[in-house]
Amino acid sequence: MRRQFIITGDGSHTLFVPELNETYHSTRGAVQESLHVFLQAGFHYAIAAPAPPPLRVLEVGFGTGLNALLTWLEAERLNFPVYYEAVEKYPLSEKEAAAIKYPEQETLTHLHGCCWEMPVVLSPCFTLCKKHIDLLEYVPAGHFEVIYFDAFAPAVQPGLWHAVVFCKLYQALVPGGVLVTYSAKGTVKEALRDAGFEVHRLPGAMGKRHMVRAIRR
Ligand SMILES: C[S@@+](CC[C@H](N)C(=O)[O-])C[C@H]1O[C@@H](n2cnc3c(N)ncnc32)[C@H](O)[C@@H]1O
Repeated sequence: MRRQFIITGDGSHTLFVPELNETYHSTRGAVQESLHVFLQAGFHYAIAAPAPPPLRVLEVGFGTGLNALLTWLEAERLNFPVYYEAVEKYPLSEKEAAAIKYPEQETLTHLHGCCWEMPVVLSPCFTLCKKHIDLLEYVPAGHFEVIYFDAFAPAVQPGLWHAVVFCKLYQALVPGGVLVTYSAKGTVKEALRDAGFEVHRLPGAMGKRHMVRAIRR
C-alpha cells in the first residue's frame, strides 16, 4: 500500500493513502484526536473501573503506533500495568516507521522494533503483542477491558464496521468493557447495537460532532 506522510493541524504526523483517499488520523491533529477518542473516552473510562491490573487493551489497526505510544506513556505516568494487543493487516515498513515524528521518539522506536505474534514486555507497565493479521480472521484469545476500534472509515472499509465483526469484539470484552471509535455514523451505531452493545454518543475530537463509546452489557 503506497502511503505519504503529511503534517496535521497539531504538528504531528499522519499517513495518507492515495489509493483510498484516506488518512490514518484527523488532519486537524493526529495526537489530539488520539488523546480524545482513545485515551480519554476509552483508556481513562476503563481504568476508572475497579479491576485488578493489568488493564487489557485491544487495538484494531496498529498503524503508526500512535495509540499504543500514548497509552504506554499514560500507563507509565499512572504506574498502572497495561497489556496491549494490536491487530494490523498492513504493517508499516521499517523505513516508514523510522520516519514518523511523534513525541517520545525513542519509545516509538521500541514499539515498532519489537517482534510480532508474541507478547513483549517493554517495561513493567507495558506489554505489547502485535498481531499481523486481518481483523476478519483474528480470533481473540483473551478478554479485554477496552477496545480501540481504529479501522479506516466505514465508507472505505464497510466490511469491518459490520455487526458480525462487532459481535466478535463484544465477546472479547469483559462485562462492562468498552469499545471506542471516532465514527458515530448511523450505520455504525446500528451495527454495534445489533451486536449487543449499549451505544453512547460523545462529543467528537477536533470539532467533529460525535464519536462513540459502546459498552458490553
Ligand atoms: C485509521 S488507520 C489507524 C492506524 C493506527 N491506529 C494509528 O494510530 O496509526 C487504520 C489502520 O487499520 C489497518 N487495517 C486496515 N484494514 C485492516 C484489517 N482488515 N485488519 C487489520 N487491520 C487493518 C490499516 O492498515 C491501518 O493501520
